Amino acid sequence: MTTAPTAMEYDPFSPAFQADPFPVYRWMRDEAPVFRSEKWNWWALSRFEDVRAAARDPETFLSYEGIDIDDTAKDQSGPGFLPDVDNPRHDQVRRIVQPHFLPRTLARKEDEIRGVVRRLLAAWRDRGEVDLAQELAWPLPNEVFFTVLGLPSAQEEGRAQLDRWVHELKDRRPGDARLTPVAKAATAGIQQFFIDLLEDRRRSPREDVVSQLVRAEIDGVPFADEHLQPASEVLGLMMVLFLGGVESTAGLVGSLFKNLAESPDQRALLRADPSLGPAAVEETIRHSSPLQLVGRTTSREVTLHGVTIPAGGRVVLVYGAANRDERQFADPDAFDITRGKPRHLGFGEGRHGCLGAPLARLEAKVALEEALPLLGDYTLAGPPVRYATTPNMYVWSQLPLSFPAPS
Ligand code: HEM
Repeated sequence: MTTAPTAMEYDPFSPAFQADPFPVYRWMRDEAPVFRSEKWNWWALSRFEDVRAAARDPETFLSYEGIDIDDTAKDQSGPGFLPDVDNPRHDQVRRIVQPHFLPRTLARKEDEIRGVVRRLLAAWRDRGEVDLAQELAWPLPNEVFFTVLGLPSAQEEGRAQLDRWVHELKDRRPGDARLTPVAKAATAGIQQFFIDLLEDRRRSPREDVVSQLVRAEIDGVPFADEHLQPASEVLGLMMVLFLGGVESTAGLVGSLFKNLAESPDQRALLRADPSLGPAAVEETIRHSSPLQLVGRTTSREVTLHGVTIPAGGRVVLVYGAANRDERQFADPDAFDITRGKPRHLGFGEGRHGCLGAPLARLEAKVALEEALPLLGDYTLAGPPVRYATTPNMYVWSQLPLSFPAPS
């Protein structure tokens, strides 16, 4: 006699789910590959092949309603926020920024990135303990991003306020899909900061990405409005470059060191053969995908596994579940840096595939090269704490580590 599998609920807003999403993901893949949420009025795809096919079919799975599944989508983005833009505009806008994020362009930044990592390490290298989330994973992409975009440096006016807003932007009440007043105020503050910055670069151009955004043209028409406002496309683009770059990379760097602490055998392999660094980074993106899900909207009726999604239906592509699919990866819950180079969906795929993937990979690789020799056989010194943010993300706000202090 076989017993019927117990039904589970996929509710990405629920704190219980967030505490350990992976058993729910397994149940979805096995029992409800097109999961219907009556509560949130969407369908969720969780198997690797289904999610990949949807990501590669942007004419059926449209992005205009936003990749966020809470009501932050249109509050915090706007026109120009690339992941939420469909064609033909998407490709025109992406072409403006693509050259700045090519691996060969970024290779020139490696020394600068290494300098940022070394400065951060210098603050705690003699201590024998560190909160790796607060003292490396978050400040690294933040600093690097300011360097890459040509934003004000840490010492310049307005930067401290901007750093505070970045976190306040994520202010949410548990189980509630709405933005809090704190998050709304932070959004408005960041938008105004970027407007002022763009105006400044328009008046006094420099050799940086922001100056090029404000000068760019599409088919002879200036990309940036003459009178910049929160609804200007160039502002949406600035927001995604900034927000997309920092939090997800903080998630990657935090999870990388967490996974290595929890898998000392893998760490020993890596310490014996540092050339496995990029593989460890890639395996972290698969195993602990910083961006767990994105939303889409169907342009036509779609039937999959016997379930019909109507035209105009909201669909969630659960990248975090697809990357743990046993149909695609052997022993998918294991963190195994010797898998070779398996294809994963941690950076999405197709038209909306991550623009910043080469930058994120470079930052994580350099962080590993610099910090692992110092940390040695480090251990977790307390429970890691998840960062309170939208359910899309899997990021750490605290990651306390102990390591043998240099004598
Ligand atoms: C580990 C770090 C990162 C992860 C895991 C990540 C993940 C992703 C994923 C999964 C997508 C696809 C979204 C979709 O399917 O709709 C995406 C898109 C995007 N990412 Fe990243 N990202 C990371 C770092 C960055 C960085 C450093 C930047 C900085 C520029 C960035 C900028 C973007 C942009 C602009 C898009 C939209 C691309 C488009 O729609 O054409 N990301 N990212």
